[in-house]
Amino acid sequence: MSDVAQDGTIELTNVFTLSEARGKGLGRQVVEEAIEVAKEKGAKRIIIDNYSYLEDFYKKFNFKKIDEFEFDPKFSEGFDPRILGRESDHNIVLMELNL
Ligand SMILES: CC(C)(COP(=O)(O)OP(=O)(O)OC[C@H]1O[C@@H](n2cnc3c(N)ncnc32)[C@H](O)[C@@H]1OP(=O)(O)O)[C@@H](O)C(=O)NCCC(=O)NCCS
Repeated sequence: MSDVAQDGTIELTNVFTLSEARGKGLGRQVVEEAIEVAKEKGAKRIIIDNYSYLEDFYKKFNFKKIDEFEFDPKFSEGFDPRILGRESDHNIVLMELNL
């Protein structure tokens, strides 16, 4: 999680659970805890950018999609979704949660 920017925005990044541990509530616990930490830091808004296959997961926490664009490896600091076994045909969605 980033520091809070001057406009009150904080960025949540790199939320992962191990594949063998999924579906047991850990992901929810991590995101709910991150929301609490953001509030404690005085943030007014959390943003997250993610592959579109994670949009419904974040909607569960009331994140709303504010933008969507095509994945382009040259803007992702060398990260390639194929290392997750995904093809890079997923769009990127930018989502926000107002606190
Ligand atoms: C998304 C992720 C964090 C969820 O972790 P998890 O431990 O399985 O999540 P939980 O078991 O806490 O599930 C919480 C809720 O989200 C739902 N959920 C989990 N994965 C979901 C998905 N991909 N899409 C929609 N809903 C999802 C669960 O059904 C559950 O719903 P409920 O609370 O209403 O019953 C995990 O699947 C993951 O790490 N995925 C890979 C992330 C990734 O590709 N990141 C790359 C971007 S940098």
